[in-house]
Order: sequence, then C-alpha cells, then structure tokens
Amino acid sequence: MTSPSPAADAESVRALFVDRFGRPPEVIASAPGRVNLIGEHTDYNGGEVLPIAIARRTWVAAGRREGDREPTLRAVSATHPSMGTSALRTPTRSGDWWDYLTGVAAPLVTAGESYTSLDLAVTSDVPAGAGLSSSAALEVATALAVAGVLGVPLPLEEAAMTAWRAETGFVGVACGIMDQYASALGRAGEALHLECDTARYDYAPFADTLLIFDTAIPRSLRTSHYNERRAECDEALRLLRERWPALPSLAAAEPEQVLEARLPDPLDRRALHVSRETRRVRDAVAALRAGGHISRELLVGSHESLRDLYECSRPELDWVVERSITLPGVRGARLTGAGWGGCAIVVGEEGALRDAAPVLAREYEARFALVPRLWLSSASSGARVEEM
Ligand code: GLA
Repeated sequence: MTSPSPAADAESVRALFVDRFGRPPEVIASAPGRVNLIGEHTDYNGGEVLPIAIARRTWVAAGRREGDREPTLRAVSATHPSMGTSALRTPTRSGDWWDYLTGVAAPLVTAGESYTSLDLAVTSDVPAGAGLSSSAALEVATALAVAGVLGVPLPLEEAAMTAWRAETGFVGVACGIMDQYASALGRAGEALHLECDTARYDYAPFADTLLIFDTAIPRSLRTSHYNERRAECDEALRLLRERWPALPSLAAAEPEQVLEARLPDPLDRRALHVSRETRRVRDAVAALRAGGHISRELLVGSHESLRDLYECSRPELDWVVERSITLPGVRGARLTGAGWGGCAIVVGEEGALRDAAPVLAREYEARFALVPRLWLSSASSGARVEEM
C-alpha cells in the first residue's frame, strides 16, 4: 500500500503559517478528497451521485493582514516553494496553484463591508492529479477558513457552492457540483446521495472499506474529453426536447425514451449511459438502506457503461476492474471520477482488499510499466472548522 504523504494536520498547517507569516493563524479548517461510489457523469446532467469523503484531507490556516492599501491574498503551501500573491478586489487568474484560493477568497472578501488582506497556509495529504478532488478539498477548506476569519457564517452547502463557483468561474474547469458537495458534506460511515438538479441530498449507510487504485496515467487529456462529452450531452438533451419539450434534464429521460428517440451515434450511447446510471444510483441507495451492499452487477455495470457507452475508460482501468473481480473476497470494481485515467475503486471485505492490493499493484506495473498508488479508505467526515 502507498505510504502516507508528509504530515498534514492542524499542527503542521499552524506551524507552516507561523513559520512563513511570523504570527499564529486565526482559523484552521480542513476538507477531504472524495471518491464516487456510483453515478458517473450524471452530475452535470441533472442526475444523482453517491460519493464518499475519503480519509485524506487538506488543511488551510488563515489570518487577516492589516496595512495594505488594496486587499491582497498571500498563500504558502508545504509542497510549493513560492509564495503566491493576488489582488482580491480585481483578481486575475495566474495559472498557478493559488488560483483556487483566490477564486474562493475574493468573492467572500468583497461581499463584506470592509475589505481585508489575507494570509493563507496549506498542507494536504490528498494526492493531486489522481482524480480524488484535491482541488475541491482545497477550495472547500479555504472557504471555511476565510469565512471564519471574516466572521461570516457559511453553511456547508454554501461552502460547496462558493468552491464550485471558484472552480468553474475563476479557475475555469467546467465540472459539476459533485466534488465540492462531497468534500463539504461527506460523513463518516455514510455515502452522500446528492440530486444534482436541485442540490437536495440525504445519506445512505456505507460501512465498507474500499481500495482506491490510482492508475498513474498522466492527466493531460482529461479536460478536453470531459468538455466534449458535456457538449454531446447538451446536444442529446436538445434533440430529446424536440419530442419531449418538458424534459427537465438528460438524466430525467427514461432509458426507453432514449431508445425510442433514435438519436444519432454517439449521442444515443451518451444519453443511455446518463439515463441508466442515474437509475443505478437509486438501486445502490436502496440496497444500502436495506442493510445490504452495492452489488457487483451495479458496480461492474456502471464501469461497462462508462467503457462502452460513455467511452471514458482506458485499457488500464478496464484491466483493474476485470482482474480485481477475479480475486477472492472482492465484490466489485469500477472507474471513479471523470475517467480517461485517474482512479478505480475496488470494493469488498477489508482483509480481501489488503490481500488484493499487492497482487494488483505488481501485475499492473508489469503489464503497463506504470507505478500505481493504492490506498484503503472508508467513508470519512466532511469539511470542518478545526480551530477559531
Ligand atoms: C469529475 C468532475 C465531476 C463529475 C465527474 C464525473 O470528477 O469534477 O463534477 O462530473 O468528473 O462523474
């Protein structure tokens, strides 16, 4: 199993803040990464998702700084040597890691009566670039820390939306709302069941451990494919509405409607995936609420649909799924997150997953000449203010 990253906790982020800014922080907040159990590429189609917060977190320490003529943000991180600075009244994108902080902090600061400069320090053990929503964890923790410093009450739902607006509007990644909601509202021992058209949510018990398998595929192509799929889904919805004008979203279309509409390929396959995947989420929630597990049929069914209909898998991810389900005690597996690389999850008995991990890692490396990273996680707690 991959060993833990450098210390990331309240103490380490406090020490970093004191070291770089020469005074103690006023607030420390933290937020976790996430994996999605089922419900992929449904969030931006008005569908349902079922993510959990994972046991890896990002910590943000924050304090006000007096004396600047214009409100400015300064940011330091345990993993980046340079200090970031940006104007908060008229923020511009730098293309650097502190854009996530600026995008969250600027609207919070400028919404208030009196503008203030901010110092922020960040430590994290959420692996970046693996598809575990390290950016959402950073944004949500920043939102809570900055709101705490400003004395603005920020409910977790608002923290999620502030984070999502920063990601889509400022950083410029056209994601759905799943990652920020999962990071803000995740709970230990429970999965978050989120309806993305209304942002209504509830929870389903999830006591299992799962194995997270990072394929270590470079992430360069993921964004362009993602945007292409979003455009295809928009077009599929437009065509379906020619027949059913009241259709609220693509996810709301029944599979039979999609089949009946005879959309051109590949729009028919994209739409069918979204429609069926949303219904798989409902089945998974029902199974968990009845005291059961998410079945292999649902997990592998979701993966196969992502592979064949949504075409966002890769041979490496397919291999992890196909190989892991042959191992004893493994219930199911699927790619999680956007796809085209990133992570798969393997679900089953904890002991079986511990045994499966080295087998999968060894064989994967031999086959693909890539060194995967593997972690065990259960459903963990969501974002919180640690200290005021
Ligand atoms: C990425 C996005 C999410 C979601 C998933 C696919 O993780 O950030 O909003 O669309 O892909 O389910």
